[in-house]
Amino acid sequence: MPNLNINFAGIKSPNPFWLASAPPTNSGYQVMKAFEAGWGGAVWKTLGVPVINVSSRYGSTNYRNTRMAGFNNIELITDRPLIDNLKEIEEVKKYFPDHAIIASLMVESKAEWEQIIKDVENAGADGIELNFGCPHGMCERGMGSAVGQEPDVLETIVGWAKEAATIPVITKLTPNISHIIDPGLAAVRGGTDAISLINTIKSIVGIDLDTYAPYPVVDGKGTNGGYCGPAVKPIALEMTKELAKHPDIRTTPISGIGGIETWRDVVEFILLGASSVQVCTAVMHYGFGIVREMEQGLVQFMNDKGYETIYDFVGKALPNVTEWKHLNLKHKVVAKINADKCIGCDLCYIACDDGAHQAIALPKNGSRIPEIIDENCVGCNLCSLVCPVEECITMEKRDDGTQHVTWDEKTQAGTIPTTFNDDRAGGKGHYVPKPTDALKV
Ligand SMILES: Cc1cc2nc3c(=O)[nH]c(=O)nc-3n(C[C@H](O)[C@H](O)[C@H](O)COP(=O)(O)O)c2cc1C
Ligand code: SF4
Ligand code: SF4
Repeated sequence: MPNLNINFAGIKSPNPFWLASAPPTNSGYQVMKAFEAGWGGAVWKTLGVPVINVSSRYGSTNYRNTRMAGFNNIELITDRPLIDNLKEIEEVKKYFPDHAIIASLMVESKAEWEQIIKDVENAGADGIELNFGCPHGMCERGMGSAVGQEPDVLETIVGWAKEAATIPVITKLTPNISHIIDPGLAAVRGGTDAISLINTIKSIVGIDLDTYAPYPVVDGKGTNGGYCGPAVKPIALEMTKELAKHPDIRTTPISGIGGIETWRDVVEFILLGASSVQVCTAVMHYGFGIVREMEQGLVQFMNDKGYETIYDFVGKALPNVTEWKHLNLKHKVVAKINADKCIGCDLCYIACDDGAHQAIALPKNGSRIPEIIDENCVGCNLCSLVCPVEECITMEKRDDGTQHVTWDEKTQAGTIPTTFNDDRAGGKGHYVPKPTDALKV
């Protein structure tokens, strides 16, 4: 059995599965229940000067048959008294001394930061997380993403927290910024022990077509909320990679957050540099029990690959994530249809003819199977992505692997197209029907 223990910037946890700061960590009751179920750590619902929350608070993007493919909230930090939260942190630590409790904090002045940090340390928290993320409500009051979007302010507050804290400080970043490296570097300059990301993405999930108010509707009005859940995972993975690759950030531990639901998601975040993960929406949707699948899957993956600890594969995918200009322009794949699996739905034909490169012909001679026109296929993948049958369309390698030329190399060699009609451009070789042929189809 592989060892799932982590030591995240000094915070010890029996596994890398943490609950993100959100409703599932509102109370001691929930955190104890989660630890019983198998979660290794919990980032407590953000503490601060208590707020008043609105009703209702959540909206969702239901995509086809999937409920909550994206989830949106306009909730603020905890509305429970600080003293209740502190007592419960203390109590949970008594029952679960080896689990990680991280207190998420959001206050305004230096004095408030110092006070609340002392309070949570006294309650027994193992670490603190600075919430510079909420893109609604708190940012209007100069906190949350208002801090996360201003690297200089963020650096100053991380500095205050580091001065006041004797336990590790994690800085939680907002994705509502064009360049995640800027707040990442500011957090490092401020002395942070670790970084977590992402908090939610500023969003409107929909409009009520009778009242014309955005969801969630609060007495006829709405506001932008924070988007999370499966829909945001790609953005979170990209930002995790950006930080984990940066020479001045990569030694800082990263806690990956955003759309994590299965063991596969966990592994992907670890491969891109995270050494703990945090989950909110998936628990709000399915409950604490999902951690069992995560743990079993992770253990199976580690056994299959021969990894003994999480650290054996943290960041293992990073060397394969490069810039576009370093990709091999000579690599060539072509779609291939497996006739035994094809159900003759023609979705691939429609997608390729209307949305790609006219490289699939409709079935001929009584066959139900469309045909790939090899010379037109640019290997874009679209047909294999729309095909409803798993592994029915595969991409076949056609280059012999001997040639390797990148855009960067071509630029240096001076062999890139320099005019609009330059013969050295791609796309020359394949047949494109005349515009008027569209009328005959
Ligand atoms: C209802 C709700 C409340 C949240 N409250 C907080 C909060 O108090 N503090 C915080 O740092 N993040 C908060 N978050 C953001 C989550 O911690 C997390 O960063 C985000 O939801 C992305 O993870 P997910 O895709 O697993 O939900 C909240 C998210 C939701 C959905
Ligand atoms: S890979 Fe792209 S170009 Fe090739 S057949 Fe499929 S959709 Fe068409
Ligand atoms: S989409 Fe897949 S199943 Fe449908 S016709 Fe194309 S290859 Fe066959």
